[in-house]
Amino acid sequence: MLSKILKFFLYKTDPEAAHKLAIKFIKNPLLRLNSCQTINYENLCQKVFGMDFKSPIGLAAGFDKNAEIYNQILNLGFGFTEVGTITPKPQEGNSKPRVFRLIEDKAIINRLGFPNDGMDTVSNRIKYNLPKGICGINIGPNKDNATSSEDYILCFDKLCQLASYITINISSPNTPNLRSQHDDDKLTKLIDAIQGRRNANKSSIPILLKISPDIEDEKIKNLCNILIEKNIDGIILTNTTVQNRKNLLSEFKLEKGGLSGAPINELSNEIIEKFYLILGKNVPIIGAGGVSCGATAFEKIKSGATLLQLYTSLVYEGPNVAKKINKELSDLIKESGYEKIEDVIGINCK
Ligand SMILES: Cc1cc2nc3c(=O)[nH]c(=O)nc-3n(C[C@H](O)[C@H](O)[C@H](O)COP(=O)(O)O)c2cc1C
Repeated sequence: MLSKILKFFLYKTDPEAAHKLAIKFIKNPLLRLNSCQTINYENLCQKVFGMDFKSPIGLAAGFDKNAEIYNQILNLGFGFTEVGTITPKPQEGNSKPRVFRLIEDKAIINRLGFPNDGMDTVSNRIKYNLPKGICGINIGPNKDNATSSEDYILCFDKLCQLASYITINISSPNTPNLRSQHDDDKLTKLIDAIQGRRNANKSSIPILLKISPDIEDEKIKNLCNILIEKNIDGIILTNTTVQNRKNLLSEFKLEKGGLSGAPINELSNEIIEKFYLILGKNVPIIGAGGVSCGATAFEKIKSGATLLQLYTSLVYEGPNVAKKINKELSDLIKESGYEKIEDVIGINCK
């Protein structure tokens, strides 16, 4: 039944309309009843950023853009969720169509450009419906202010008391010039500014940085030096890519925007390995890009990820995807002779 509904969504509906319907569906109280059966696996439990994660699988930013379903998501087997990207002012994003399902490739291309309700609306929404688990907030600038740190600071000040962690998003390909925030000087100033606000707010909230997969190898060492020097709490590797179109099958493969899902799995693993080789366990990595089953999750952890996030496989596999991955991953860890998830992190990196 569920797979028939999913197929209808995938093949017959416009992606953004389907997304709106999916949000309504996930809000449905009947689904919440069903989700009481979430199982916790002891070998998947970890303490990261000082918090207890019952599952390493999180929902990546962009699905619950406006903080509408974080508590329901936490009931679907996800160990954490991330809302946003939130900007100071509400904005419409780019013109439609701007989301494309590449069904043959189990991928999505999007050029949404941070459409969102803005930080005031989102902060009120969260204030009156506090998260019942680990919920990060992903922040970014409005389109007209992408190269300065101002908008990040405004969002941080507004939202830092309401989140389990804050992600500084410098890596969406759909906001012009945003990725220039990866430049050494700019990044150093940005992290300084936000950590300064953390002190000013008397907060100890973990600050994470979400990084692009489209960076050159030579850049990685510099970035890692900055992350270590600034004592960043964690990084998310990676956002969507503007590369990797050659081997795709779908008619939409050349649409402008960021590619996610199965075709970026390997690319993301390679980048995670490169960062892990330098950072080790000093800066926890949240691995994102093509996680869709126990095997892809296992591989990413072996590449150096401590936690994982997914978006695209929720679209293709449906709302039980996290529960399914938890079971498969727990079994894989056991079958491979490891006691717990921590024993697997980075074992592919030598
Ligand atoms: C439609 C769509 C919208 C997204 N919006 C955001 C966003 O607002 N902020 C962000 O940091 N990442 C965003 N992402 C990127 C995801 O959070 C994730 O990093 C990326 O999709 C790779 O994971 P996946 O292969 O599991 O989808 C978006 C992805 C998709 C497919």
